[in-house]
Amino acid sequence: MPQKNPAFKRTTITAALPYTNGPIHIGHLAGVYVPADIYSRYLRLKGEEVLFVCGSDEHGVAIPMKAKKEGVSPQELIDKYDGIIRKSFADFGIAFDNYSRTSAPIHHETASDFFKTLHTQGDFIEEVTEQLYDPEADQFLADRFVTGTCPKCGYEEAYGDQCENCGSSLNATDLIGAKSVISGAIPVLKSTKHWFLPLDRYEGFLKSWILEGHREDWKPNVYGQCKSWIDDGLKPRAVTRDLDWGIPVPVEGAEGKVLYVWFDAPIGYISSTREWAAREGEDWERWWKDPQTRLLHFIGKDNIVFHCIIFPAMLKAHGEYILPENVPANEFLNLEGQKLSTSRNWAVWLHEYLEEFPGMQDVLRYALTANAPETKDNDFTWKDFQARNNNELVAIFGNFVNRVTVLTHKYLDGRLAQPGPLTDTDRETLEAIRTYPGKIGNSLDRFRFREASQDLMNLARLGNKYLADEEPWKVVKTDPERAATILYVGMQVAAALAVLSEPFLPFTAAKLKFLLQMDNTEAAASWTSLSTLETLLPAGHQIGESQLLFRKIEDTEIQAQLEKLEATKKSNAMNETQVTPQKETITFDDFSKLDLRVGTILEAEKMPKADKLIVMKVDTGIDTRTIVSGIAMHFKPEELVGKQVTVLVNLAPRPLRGVESQGMILLAEDHEGKLVFVTPEAAIANGMVIR
Ligand code: 2FM
Ligand code: ZN
Repeated sequence: MPQKNPAFKRTTITAALPYTNGPIHIGHLAGVYVPADIYSRYLRLKGEEVLFVCGSDEHGVAIPMKAKKEGVSPQELIDKYDGIIRKSFADFGIAFDNYSRTSAPIHHETASDFFKTLHTQGDFIEEVTEQLYDPEADQFLADRFVTGTCPKCGYEEAYGDQCENCGSSLNATDLIGAKSVISGAIPVLKSTKHWFLPLDRYEGFLKSWILEGHREDWKPNVYGQCKSWIDDGLKPRAVTRDLDWGIPVPVEGAEGKVLYVWFDAPIGYISSTREWAAREGEDWERWWKDPQTRLLHFIGKDNIVFHCIIFPAMLKAHGEYILPENVPANEFLNLEGQKLSTSRNWAVWLHEYLEEFPGMQDVLRYALTANAPETKDNDFTWKDFQARNNNELVAIFGNFVNRVTVLTHKYLDGRLAQPGPLTDTDRETLEAIRTYPGKIGNSLDRFRFREASQDLMNLARLGNKYLADEEPWKVVKTDPERAATILYVGMQVAAALAVLSEPFLPFTAAKLKFLLQMDNTEAAASWTSLSTLETLLPAGHQIGESQLLFRKIEDTEIQAQLEKLEATKKSNAMNETQVTPQKETITFDDFSKLDLRVGTILEAEKMPKADKLIVMKVDTGIDTRTIVSGIAMHFKPEELVGKQVTVLVNLAPRPLRGVESQGMILLAEDHEGKLVFVTPEAAIANGMVIR
């Protein structure tokens, strides 16, 4: 992948606007916000001009649907989640220059104007077409209001706008066996007018811009998706919807219609920039219209088509805007082997994580970066999280910093001494430090965040190895001056870590800079100075008190998380159990014919040569009789003896493998196929009637 074009003067970084229909979880953080934050912090540290914008995505069908589910108004819903999401971002140090909302007036105005410009220029096709309509709910169905089978991959729960399984973007009418999500009704077709963006007109442009222009520098997963889209042939795409939640379509004859959420959401990046510029007295246009601005979109893979095909076509149609220079989309993160899911509560929610691991934001940031789903879907496991913390942050990074600072206090009262003559190892170590900004930066510029996080850890490894080899704690006994020189060199590594870890571990970096008392040093301010400065912390520099940067995570803490997930799994399985439909109604007389009694199993044994059958002697209170039941796969005979059960005593006797069964014992089957007896809640005399 070639490096960025040196003609660029500044970078506009966008991170996908999260929907305000739920809080955010580790998947969002790993896929989008942590890499975007690392990258913008890195550029800032290099002294580049950067603008990092985001905001809440508050339109679209998902919002009114979720509001209905929670029994609140859409406005109440978006206010609630906008607040929760903002807090999570702030808590995890995602340092946006501006975080806006698509419900903000400035966004409504920006998106409306954008639509009007395209409309006036004749960039849309207006067409009356037949769309899916729910006759019971009396409304048109689009996007998430309708599900069915994906025509491309056969996934049965594809939405009307997108298949989450194969990532295809769909039209609701493409779905096979479509069903309304609102009422479950089979939709009918009904005519309605909409505005379409004729993507087919942009095929030539997209081919040369992406397929020829970005073959080398876009990630293969992104390039591949774009290619398959373009190769499949692009079709006009409706950019308006029949809905009452969203931005009203700002042209005549569009009453009751709103802009499609995917038309307005990416414009949210522009409105967020405008909001920031108005606040800061800046010019927003240079961040969006100057060809010397590099535009980068950080997104997850389900958003690729919108950011690489549709939004660029809109920007191109408009005519005044720059196009994204790169779209470093990530694949998906799974959790303990299963797809993350908001509705199934299969997630690690950021606000819950912080309650359980207070002050440990950087640990999660690090674990998610070191294991980021960069080129393929990846799995987050609590064991890996623990290992990243205990074996890397604690044992390598934290241990090195702790050793070098504690020894500096112990032997030198925390003040760096003038180094004596340097050995080859000292010089090599100091020289190695100078290569790290370039090394880490090189990985970051290629959007290889995993690699970059390991480069950083390697610098801490280098520090550890240097101390282990030089052994200042031994040397001090015979040559205190040499020990002081070793600590001087070690301290330079610690200072480099304080600067270079900032994009990855911003809270730790701040702590470390404070600990090293290096906030006002030249080194602290800049990434590149590390390669050029003679020394990062000069002789005579006084460091602050030692403190631990990380703490070990115990097995019990991990176990608690795994148990929590296990409970979620169980409750999901219960909720997802298909309940058999009710049988035909019976009369009370029909019911009265059943003679149900409390009985006790006296004896039980497996029937020879029959895998499934157990022969029991049951005291029914009326008599002691033989009952044969097909439960041998579920119970051992000995665990049945003494159990009180419910017996249908007047069932006509029937022979089973030559033994006459004189009744039936009642059992229920749970969601996993496990059998449980229907037993009286308290012990009761055999023969008592159940009614
Ligand atoms: O997939 C999502 O969560 C969308 N809300 C992302 C929108 S990105 C942008 F275009 F606004
Ligand atoms: Zn599909």
